[in-house]
Amino acid sequence: MLCPVASMSTLWLLEALAKNLPRFPTAVLCLHPRVPAVVQLLLLMNARVVTARERIPTKAEVGAQAATEPKFPATRLALQNFDMTYSVQFEDLWPSIRVSLLSEQKYGALVNNFAAWDHVSAELEQLSARDFVNEAISHREREPESGQTAVPSPASLACSPNLRCFTFPRGDVSRFPPARLGSLGVMDYYLMDAASLLPVLALGLQPGDTVLDLCAAPGGKTLALLQTGCCRNLAANDLSTSRTGRLQKVLYSYVPQDIRERNRVRVTSWDGRKWGELEGDTYDRVLVDVPCTVDRHSLHEEENNIFQRSRKKERQMLPMLQMQLLAAGLLATKPGGHVVYSTCSLSHLQNEYVVQGTVEFLANQYSIHVQVEDLTHFRKLFMDTFFFFPSCQVGELVIPNLMANFGPMYFCKMCRLT
Ligand SMILES: C[S@@+](CC[C@H](N)C(=O)[O-])C[C@H]1O[C@@H](n2cnc3c(N)ncnc32)[C@H](O)[C@@H]1O
Repeated sequence: MLCPVASMSTLWLLEALAKNLPRFPTAVLCLHPRVPAVVQLLLLMNARVVTARERIPTKAEVGAQAATEPKFPATRLALQNFDMTYSVQFEDLWPSIRVSLLSEQKYGALVNNFAAWDHVSAELEQLSARDFVNEAISHREREPESGQTAVPSPASLACSPNLRCFTFPRGDVSRFPPARLGSLGVMDYYLMDAASLLPVLALGLQPGDTVLDLCAAPGGKTLALLQTGCCRNLAANDLSTSRTGRLQKVLYSYVPQDIRERNRVRVTSWDGRKWGELEGDTYDRVLVDVPCTVDRHSLHEEENNIFQRSRKKERQMLPMLQMQLLAAGLLATKPGGHVVYSTCSLSHLQNEYVVQGTVEFLANQYSIHVQVEDLTHFRKLFMDTFFFFPSCQVGELVIPNLMANFGPMYFCKMCRLT
């Protein structure tokens, strides 16, 4: 862990320097908690951005790599694509987002309420991590915005309850130890990008809700939905059978059998686009966490990378698939019910344009009216932990930042009116 003062100032400096990266396209920034701040800065002056996992390879390794690596690695195509589109979309913010995306991401520890949670929370506090969810909500209740009384604010009422997620403070790049099997026979916490919890919090579950998680695997958000204790029943679906296998493993490792049965958890592997026809007007809350360009993954992993040349068509068709999934999610919702649409991409084409296009499509084709909800209060609630893009037309977008390297995570809440 960097000492707080050194890490704060260093990270600010890194961020400022990162703004020059487009002028030094081959510069390498080596961000690792154990590399002294000064060395990191020196490396930055002269180098390209790499993750802590990467290091400078030896000559022999370079030779061996050259023989096996594709000529145009998908990770490089992803970066070229992002440089072209996101420099226009985010203008001055792009260099800072870019360096953060290329650096090591931060995690949050979602406490498993089915384990001995108070004991787990105490252990996480000893590591100097803090529960960002409850800190934000209790802070808002203590200091309501002017004109409001000190009763729980609409913002806190709108959040799904009982979620505890620990993160290290801004500028602190410590890592959590791996989760362990607790005394009650289930794992004690689940490590995930803390921004991934925001769509679940925004869904605002109420006790007794019937819930659909349309694209659920590998299951981080499904687990969070169950942690709320609100699901009367939960349908967790994913088209991919191998990925629903991973989801099942998460459920077995974190949720005791009687709770799985009491919450009537149903795991399926259907095409989510057909859900409106299968179970129309059924659910109180629907999460539509769609496949996307998974921007951070696409910059770091060759395997299963959507920027592989062979997947070009699939990539181009993503916004269409996303619209079909969101439309199906809205059709599966009861009138008066709520849907949250989410992606882990920065792309407006995959985010707000999909939401706006789908709302228009449902009004024209089905006379179904959907209201996009204003999440400004929600953004304010969590702005001590995350950096939000200030200019989304609809929904909210967490942008990666070296001080809090979470996201990207876009989420938009909608209410089906008719
Ligand atoms: C972003 S991931 C979901 C992550 C998951 N919600 C979580 O928090 O762990 C998107 C998922 O959509 C699934 N998917 C792709 N096309 C689908 C379809 N037509 N119907 C349902 N799921 C689909 C993919 O298999 C992938 O697992």
